[in-house]
Amino acid sequence: MIILGIETSCDETAVSILRVSGDKNTPNIKVLGNTVMSQIKLHEKYGGVFPMMAKREHAKNLIPILEKTLSEAGLFKKADKKTALDDTKLNIILEREPELLKTFLELIPTIERPNIDAIAVTYGPGLEPALWVGINFAKVLSAVWNIPVIPINHMEGHIMSAILPEIKNTESEIKVRDIEFPALALLISGGHTELILVKSFGEYEILGQTRDDAIGEAYDKVARMLELPYPGGPKISELAEKERVEKTPERPFVLPRPMIHSNDLDFSFAGLKTAVLYAIKKISGELTEKTKQQIAKEFEDAVTEVLVSKTRKAMEKFEVKNLIVGGGVIANKFIRKNLKDLISEFQNTTILLPETGMSGDNALMIALAGYFDTTYTKNGLKKEDFRASGNLKLN
Ligand code: KG4
Ligand code: ZN
Repeated sequence: MIILGIETSCDETAVSILRVSGDKNTPNIKVLGNTVMSQIKLHEKYGGVFPMMAKREHAKNLIPILEKTLSEAGLFKKADKKTALDDTKLNIILEREPELLKTFLELIPTIERPNIDAIAVTYGPGLEPALWVGINFAKVLSAVWNIPVIPINHMEGHIMSAILPEIKNTESEIKVRDIEFPALALLISGGHTELILVKSFGEYEILGQTRDDAIGEAYDKVARMLELPYPGGPKISELAEKERVEKTPERPFVLPRPMIHSNDLDFSFAGLKTAVLYAIKKISGELTEKTKQQIAKEFEDAVTEVLVSKTRKAMEKFEVKNLIVGGGVIANKFIRKNLKDLISEFQNTTILLPETGMSGDNALMIALAGYFDTTYTKNGLKKEDFRASGNLKLN
């Protein structure tokens, strides 16, 4: 089965083509094509993602990215003659994306229908204007090529990212990692901080989640307070690491570990962010590089301790076979190390972490989620009339 994955929920425009074959639970995959185009540079000056600009950029870039990815996959073939398309239907679907419609009509009728069996597209959670572009793109491709569309939950995609094997090249077929159920998923991204019980493919239960800010959001907001560029995660972790190496003898900043002792599995990071703000306000004069390092380290220690403590609590309560971690924040080396150390306390549990480059948003994880969806959803492929759902939940 060949699946085209499309991801536009936030500030990455991503398209992938994945071939999946073999065993149902641990299939072999071959990455035929994979492109991620980041808009970070454009959003940087706003200190965060500007939704309407994200939407515009997705609309501008989807066709060129699709062309590139099809070529990489060897699925791009010019047609002998231009195909006549039903413009009315396309006009209705892409009514709000005139630029995408224009580039679509310039390319798609001139190429042959590629050998693709299904289109998997993120329909939530995320920024609705951005999600709609990807969804409508999937719908027009589906209409023209007569390929079914599978709507995918972005967070399910992040779970899938942890079982994607290391992809060294696009030549070889590799087995995906096995998930042993029940598993616990810790999802940590710019929009989410969640502990999820994964009972089987497609069967989830939210055990705990953030009551206010997501962990990545806290990183990004603290970074802004420290006058660091967006996105803040990588920069804060770099400063924190420097501070760990330099080892300041005293601990000049002490930040809270919110909800670390609460009995539930929820999180809260808004208070921590405010505590950083007060700490900065107390500093007289300029924020030096050293002070930034010290705050960054204390902040990272605080969020890591909370994550580890809540994950431990969940693992003690539910005897899980795997701990799956997904989401942009798991690119963080310190958090990775601390979660690996935590796992060593549990003899019967192994950890599944995304490979480098797979923790952030990408379309391979969406395509793989599409495969499991077609394999495990009783009704088979889903209907095409679905909508963007900004607050979509996993359950
Ligand atoms: O999953 P993702 O790419 O997008 C969402 O779905 O939200 O996650 C983006 C988040 C941003 O908040 C970014 O600051 C954070 O992941 N991030 C990190 C690191 N790299 C990215 N946070 C901490 N440490 C990192 N190394
Ligand atoms: Zn994400």
